[in-house]
Amino acid sequence: MSDRSPVAGGETPSRSRGSLRTAVVWEVLRDALDHRVKAAGTDVLDVLDTGGGTGSFSVPVARLGHRVTVVDPSPNALFALERRAAEAGVAERVRGVQGDIHGLFDVVGRGGFDAVLCHGVLEYVDDPAEGVRNAVDALRPAGALSLLAAGLGGAVLARALAGHFNEARRALGDPAGRWGEGD
Ligand SMILES: C[S@@+](CC[C@H](N)C(=O)[O-])C[C@H]1O[C@@H](n2cnc3c(N)ncnc32)[C@H](O)[C@@H]1O
Repeated sequence: MSDRSPVAGGETPSRSRGSLRTAVVWEVLRDALDHRVKAAGTDVLDVLDTGGGTGSFSVPVARLGHRVTVVDPSPNALFALERRAAEAGVAERVRGVQGDIHGLFDVVGRGGFDAVLCHGVLEYVDDPAEGVRNAVDALRPAGALSLLAAGLGGAVLARALAGHFNEARRALGDPAGRWGEGD
């Protein structure tokens, strides 16, 4: 039976806010993939994780039985991904490819995926709009895009919840939405 937790398989769940966010994103993503499975009439989806890093989402997705391609520019991240996939017993369903969201179609086919993940990547790229266009163009018709990017509302809320009200106020009024020098 497939494991349905993003923190299973030897990874230690923690009580950090980051792990809570991961758990919430995972719930939504898993439901979206289940929906695609039903709509596409197949048990196995082709999933692209662009900027997938060390596989914190792609390995759990592979544990659901799907085939995942991870495109990331970092060789270190891809190495860690390979090890994580092997430890989770899904190495044959996870393919790591060195590449960039801007040159996505140099390394994967256009329109070849039932779902595309782009989590926490647009903050790092030169042209976020092109990044989104490429992520969408990698989808098959009616495919699902899972897009996560930091936004002003989230930044303000995070600082306020941490008790840093001056930083929250500063982010709210800053044209770039930054809460301070450290942001
Ligand atoms: C904050 S990590 C997010 C990793 C993963 N998506 C997750 O949610 O755990 C950002 C990732 O984006 C990758 N990245 C940076 N620039 C990129 C680019 N131009 N194209 C694709 N990925 C990029 C980094 O190597 C890193 O793995």
